[in-house]
Amino acid sequence: MRDRSELSAKFVNSPLRELDQRLQNGDSLFWLSDRELVVGDAMLCRSVLANENGAFAEQSDFFRCCSGFLQPRERQRRIARDGARLLRDFLAHSEHDPLAVIDSTLASTQTYPDAANLLMLKLLGPVLVAPGSARGIERLLQRIVERTILRGASPRPPRATGLLFRWRAIYLLASELERRSRQPVYPSRDILDVIARHSGQDVAAEDLAQVFLSFVVAIIGFARSPLAQTSIGSETVGPGQQVIVCPYLAHRNRQVCENPDRFDPGRWSQPGAGKHYLPFGWGEHRCTAASLSVKFITNLLGVINQSYKLNYRFRAKVPCVGVALSPPCFELTLVRGS
Ligand code: HEM
Repeated sequence: MRDRSELSAKFVNSPLRELDQRLQNGDSLFWLSDRELVVGDAMLCRSVLANENGAFAEQSDFFRCCSGFLQPRERQRRIARDGARLLRDFLAHSEHDPLAVIDSTLASTQTYPDAANLLMLKLLGPVLVAPGSARGIERLLQRIVERTILRGASPRPPRATGLLFRWRAIYLLASELERRSRQPVYPSRDILDVIARHSGQDVAAEDLAQVFLSFVVAIIGFARSPLAQTSIGSETVGPGQQVIVCPYLAHRNRQVCENPDRFDPGRWSQPGAGKHYLPFGWGEHRCTAASLSVKFITNLLGVINQSYKLNYRFRAKVPCVGVALSPPCFELTLVRGS
């Protein structure tokens, strides 16, 4: 067995190479370091996320904040529920014509995934920060996306300048949230209003600002912390260690998908396949916007497919690893009217 610290360093440098190696060896449960157990078997992933016997702390990275995790869980639930409701209403009543936005954003040849992320910012940015918000906050949203999502943004922990940017962003967002919590608006215009409505004496504005960042940049590690010694497959974990649920491995299990690297979303509708499908998590913390997100993306792809001819050229062979996993970098030209 390889030394665990050597493995951990290799993983940080080229996570996909390490994971692909594991897939080839049929290895879906392994220690990344003395503290981190990676779980890639869908059934084991689900049992960890379902936390049926309460072996894990009930928490999700979505609500990780400066002081730990946003408390209490009821506040998390209300923010999650109201955020999904706001998004649903926005999508139902949005006056944005997606074709006009696609035409203006993706007019010439564009490089992806950046172009797709910028399209999302145009289409969904108003849900995060309503137009007409305090000067600087809309610009801040743009800067957050540029610094943390677009290519060149690293999934690794930020260096000094990145930390400085992060703390400045948290400071500005916290001030805006404090201002909005003093003058609450109902119905909420954007996610900042939703979060501000659930502020209170018992929670720091900086913690709420951090939750806003989760809505913008969903860095979802799927990590869970054991509260007591517990078995996961053939391994035992305990307090001080972490279990990392890995959908990348679960979704590429050769026994479930014959050709896992092919774009074939229909595979998840096959009988029995759904239980291996984990992009939105599972259990108590499953994404509250899962079905909305799938519907939104399906509609958007439908519009693109119906209205344009697609000319594309891949510029890379391996997927892009950033805050989220994206297809290998490619250039795409949309030609209207096909
Ligand atoms: C394709 C897009 C999305 C993906 C892949 C995704 C993925 C996920 C995943 C994996 C989790 C579970 C995290 C865990 O168990 O630790 C989660 C939770 C969550 N997601 Fe999403 N998400 C997406 C879009 C959204 C959107 C648009 C919203 C905004 C309304 C949203 C709001 C949330 C919230 C509030 C939670 C925490 C739920 C809780 O702990 O109760 N997500 N998401």
